[in-house]
Amino acid sequence: MAKTVTLQGEGFENVELPVLSGTLGQDVIDIRALSKGTGMFTFDPGFVSTASCESKITFIDGEKGLLYYRGYPIEQLAEHSDYLEVCYLLIYGELPTAEQKAEFTKIVVEHTILHEQITSFFKGFRRDAHPMAMMVGVVGALSAFYQDSLDISQPRHREIAIFRLLSKVPTIAAMCYRYEKGLPFNYPRNDLSYTANFMHMMFSVPSENYEPNPVLVRALDRIFMLHADHEQNASTSTVRLAGSSGANPFACIAAGIATLWGPLHGGANEAVLKMLDEIGDVSKVPEFMEGVKAKKYRLMGFGHRVYKNMDPRAKIMKQTCDEVLRELGLENDPKFKLAMELEKIALNDPYFIEKKLYPNVDFYSGIVLSALGIPVSMFTVIFALARTVGWISHWNEGASDASAKIGRPRQLYTGESRRDFVPVEKR
Ligand code: ACO
Repeated sequence: MAKTVTLQGEGFENVELPVLSGTLGQDVIDIRALSKGTGMFTFDPGFVSTASCESKITFIDGEKGLLYYRGYPIEQLAEHSDYLEVCYLLIYGELPTAEQKAEFTKIVVEHTILHEQITSFFKGFRRDAHPMAMMVGVVGALSAFYQDSLDISQPRHREIAIFRLLSKVPTIAAMCYRYEKGLPFNYPRNDLSYTANFMHMMFSVPSENYEPNPVLVRALDRIFMLHADHEQNASTSTVRLAGSSGANPFACIAAGIATLWGPLHGGANEAVLKMLDEIGDVSKVPEFMEGVKAKKYRLMGFGHRVYKNMDPRAKIMKQTCDEVLRELGLENDPKFKLAMELEKIALNDPYFIEKKLYPNVDFYSGIVLSALGIPVSMFTVIFALARTVGWISHWNEGASDASAKIGRPRQLYTGESRRDFVPVEKR
């Protein structure tokens, strides 16, 4: 028998609401008939108890520390797969055959070059512009350069826009870095893998030969995989909401990038490195931790809205972090030693244990990115690059659903009641 929840209240009785079950995770109460039956809405700031959509892409169980992309545990993907294969999985729902993988890789790799006019577009930015400010602007501007794939009612247009975003976002990300540094832009190299090509576009200079280090390429590829999707977080929900109005994919992804920029979301790994700089030395850690416990500030890179157990991505990233520090001989670098000391203290401190605050993926990814020579101002850009596939998969899921409605939350109004206008001379 179908499950229901029955509501009784003042002015209404026996309002039955269906209970829906997914393939995994908690049941949800379908409240679509709530307003009609009770005359009331629900109040859920921060959407902590609200499922905003149905999705088949990613599953998270925060209590158990599980993360699955299309049913595959993140640990298995991180060990056996690579970023572009994960992209295919997120977009199409299945792992590719060898032939599909080769074709998909070829399409993405061969479309990394940008319309040359975008180079001039960059020159409009101040040299000291934050790379995320340029990312929001340039990714949004893609809709002005690639106008032949904007009819989102056509699956083929959506697919072309998806390829373009996957291919071109790394090129834009590297250009944001090069522009800020005053370095010449590097054209993509089609003989390299997706991630090695990104490292080439970031670090190669005309005066030297650059061959990406495979250990570091693998580490960055893993960061991309771990950040590829995370169900209905703030930026993904923003992309879906923007998409629900029929906005074009480039504009929707720009909205996601804007949301990711905040320090409580994608800005967290940047905040971790700033925090390490502020602490400065291992000897200051106890004093810093006292301030955290007195709630003067937060320990950045710790805690998560959904994971109340160890973030599964953090476990994998910690291993990658050790590999990278070893490869680069940075195990005794003061900054990284300080980070490891913070991690050790927090994992054993009752304050953090009782509140179930564990290191999140950003704690370790910040350290890895810093060790790779990527400046702090680029951290959120790297996150945006990796998350583009998640955003676009969710956008596509929403755009393909013929029954989807425009997103329109309600509110609890607590402002002034009706009042009459007072002319300025009488105020
Ligand atoms: N340091 C110290 N105390 C913390 C921290 C932290 N990083 N995070 C949460 N707390 C405490 C809060 O003070 C609160 O204590 P209280 O119950 O005594 O009032 C309790 O833990 C619960 O905190 P909330 O803010 O209610 O938890 P919420 O789930 O809303 O917040 C968030 C999650 C925003 C990620 C939070 O843990 C935080 O600010 N962390 C630091 C920023 C960070 O690392 N963000 C990355 C998120 S991951 C991502 O975007 C990929």
